[in-house]
Amino acid sequence: MKKIVCDSPFLAAQAAADVFEEQIKAKSNSVLGLATGSTPIELYNELASRCSQGRFDFSQAQTFNLDEYYPMKADNAQSYRSFMNKHLFSKVNFANSRVLNGEVSDPHAECAKFDSEIEAVGGIDLQLLGIGHNGHIGFCEPSTSYTLDTYLVDLTDDTIEANSRFFGEGETQPNQALTMGVGTIFKARKILLLITGESKADITKKLFDGVLYTDVPACLLLLHPDVTVVLDKAAAKHL
Ligand code: PGA
Repeated sequence: MKKIVCDSPFLAAQAAADVFEEQIKAKSNSVLGLATGSTPIELYNELASRCSQGRFDFSQAQTFNLDEYYPMKADNAQSYRSFMNKHLFSKVNFANSRVLNGEVSDPHAECAKFDSEIEAVGGIDLQLLGIGHNGHIGFCEPSTSYTLDTYLVDLTDDTIEANSRFFGEGETQPNQALTMGVGTIFKARKILLLITGESKADITKKLFDGVLYTDVPACLLLLHPDVTVVLDKAAAKHL
């Protein structure tokens, strides 16, 4: 795993944007895997700003998002579709952007369709990930066994609690989600893991301990041949 430690979250976003820039300049029709959460917001701002400066564009690129709540209407303000529209898709033009559909009646069919769409376009070239305090990637929660393909997952209490900050009073927070499985994530040719903030310092240390903790899904990335971890100093505190 390649590690890049930056002085601030802003500089970490810049370093992560450099990875995207390199990817899109090398292959204009790249297939990009995207993530939600507070961590990538600065990166998405930076990508939008570089596009508006004309440094590169994503018009031939397509995207697949890691996960979506279930059940969740796409136009609900809390959906990951809404998040992506707000923070990236309204500012940057992609050839196609696929987010798992949290409104379907058959979630398992939707998951299988999603994986076959990724396969049909030749797989993901660059997958962006964040990490949960519990070590989850996407919504692949800590467990003794891991589902490989995209699947319907029961969220852990930790994750529901961590994400409750995004939900206002009277808004229903789902306790399930559709998420790429670790196998789907692992098939990406290149992975970029972005970690910022002191609250992630403990889980970050586990990732760099030189041990594959089976209850830390992110540790599976230790086995992937091309992972770049971009961190700020606060997240790298114990390294
Ligand atoms: P966060 O979420 O960026 O909001 O901390 C990351 C994650 O849970 O993957």
